[in-house]
Amino acid sequence: MSVLFQTRKCLFKKPFNNTFCKYVFLRKNSDVPRKFVTFDEIVAQRRLEAQRSLVVQVNSESSFNELYGYCSKYASINDIHHYKNSGGENFMLIEFESEENLKEVLKSCCSHNKDHDLISVQSPFVWFRAAAGKKEKLVANGKNLAVKNGIEIIKEDVLYEELMNCETVSDQIQLLYDRTTLNDLGMRLRYMVARQLEVIFSSLYTNVRVQPFGSTVNGFGRMGCDLDLILTNTLTEEMTAAGRRLVFQEKRCEGGRGGARHMELAGALLELRVPGAARVVRVLNARVPIVKYAHDYTDLHCDLCYNNLSGAYMSELLWQLGELAPRARALAVLVRRWAARAGLTQPHPGRWVTNFPLTLLVLFFLQQSHAHLLPPLNLLVSCAGKEDTRIAEENLKCTFVRDLNKLPPESYGQNDDDLQTLLFKFFEFYSQFDFENKAISINEGRAIRKPNSLPLYIVNPLEQSLNVSRNVSHEECERLRLEVRNAAWHLESCPARSAEGWGALGLLERRAAPQLRRLLRLGTSHRLVSMRDLFREDDEPSVEGVRSKLRTLVKT
Ligand code: CTP
Ligand code: MG
Repeated sequence: MSVLFQTRKCLFKKPFNNTFCKYVFLRKNSDVPRKFVTFDEIVAQRRLEAQRSLVVQVNSESSFNELYGYCSKYASINDIHHYKNSGGENFMLIEFESEENLKEVLKSCCSHNKDHDLISVQSPFVWFRAAAGKKEKLVANGKNLAVKNGIEIIKEDVLYEELMNCETVSDQIQLLYDRTTLNDLGMRLRYMVARQLEVIFSSLYTNVRVQPFGSTVNGFGRMGCDLDLILTNTLTEEMTAAGRRLVFQEKRCEGGRGGARHMELAGALLELRVPGAARVVRVLNARVPIVKYAHDYTDLHCDLCYNNLSGAYMSELLWQLGELAPRARALAVLVRRWAARAGLTQPHPGRWVTNFPLTLLVLFFLQQSHAHLLPPLNLLVSCAGKEDTRIAEENLKCTFVRDLNKLPPESYGQNDDDLQTLLFKFFEFYSQFDFENKAISINEGRAIRKPNSLPLYIVNPLEQSLNVSRNVSHEECERLRLEVRNAAWHLESCPARSAEGWGALGLLERRAAPQLRRLLRLGTSHRLVSMRDLFREDDEPSVEGVRSKLRTLVKT
């Protein structure tokens, strides 16, 4: 398929474009060589895009002509993308041709009138006020918006209707991915929010960099997912060159583990200096101190941390594994959504599993010999060269090969299973997994002996002495086991196409009867029973049916 041979240039044009991903999923035969770009190249391209972009609050979508005409007096425009936030306010993201162009436009910006309550701050978020006096005629010269309403999240009922009309379960999984995954404008806005902090913090930190990590960039993010941001100020070799004699007087940062003091400062700046930032909450006692805030212009919930490079390298690693096995992304998106619907994950942290370990479960499954889609991480480490050396905080080695073209082609992608088969095998695999004695290690690509008795043990790939699911309680682990068995059972006895809850729908719809759930919980607290135990082929899952089965099972 021609798209598999896309050049770097072509890939670069829209690296997160859904159409591209769709074609990659169709890739079956690993004999076809594929050219990989690196994570750093994609990040660099997104950062450059943000450096020449501006987000403008406008009156309505029809402000386009006026805005285009006004801005093109100062600079050449690449594209204008329109979106609305949840407050119904309209915004346009303008990408200019170059950073120089943007600087010209910024020179033409001004601050509000002399309002003593407002402190003037220059950032790439501005508004387009109505013309004073006589209106000059401004036109867009036949240009159109690149996208209208570009970050609207698909409504549940529309999504379910589309899923209902799919031909196969594989199509459903693919459709869910295509319709819910983070799109191009979603990505651009996230880099704009990072850019805004970078611009505002740049006079306080040398070589400051604010960068998205987590599900925004790891390839598993959905529209509307939280924005994880990392603030770094790593000095380059040149900046610390021993030959230079004039050295800046500097301030030692005392007290506060892992950047807690930096986060205190960031919290104050977010409150006082960052337009759009609201509801700032400091979580400074955590292992990784963070400041949470809402960004009202983009509707994003942000978590900002300082220097947590291992989290950023982890995102890079996950992104790479998704590149090697693009089917992993569609599977993980479905598994994350299934877990949310089954109540296995919650919007707030607690004694349950979260999306990150769930993603590791998917990747680990794809490393198994029957899937053979991904190599163990150890192979990526052994293929690393000097240029791949990365050291994170506390001297943590995060070295693995960055250029995936260097991996032996036979080490990944050796499986033609469609998404439906993989999904079923995923649930089957974990239905039978020995959680009691085994830990999941994507480093080894196989289950290893558990070093302690925590209910769920998933080795942190970059810090192998840690368990990324150490917070998960015994009860929650049991629920996970129960739900994977239910899911496998559902897919095995899948209702015919177009029947209610057929295929992936049965895994994604909200559970209808809370009463039924309570009964199932009761069942698990007496003894682990799965849906398969509760029903036989001819049974309908009714509350009465479950109650009577439970009575029998509990008695035995
Ligand atoms: N991370 C990590 N070690 C952990 C937890 C998280 O390295 N024990 C890193 C991972 O790179 C993860 C990122 O921090 O992707 C952000 O964590 P989190 O927001 O919990 O997960 P996401 O993958 O972003 O998923 P979500 O969409 O739920 O935010
Ligand atoms: Mg996140």
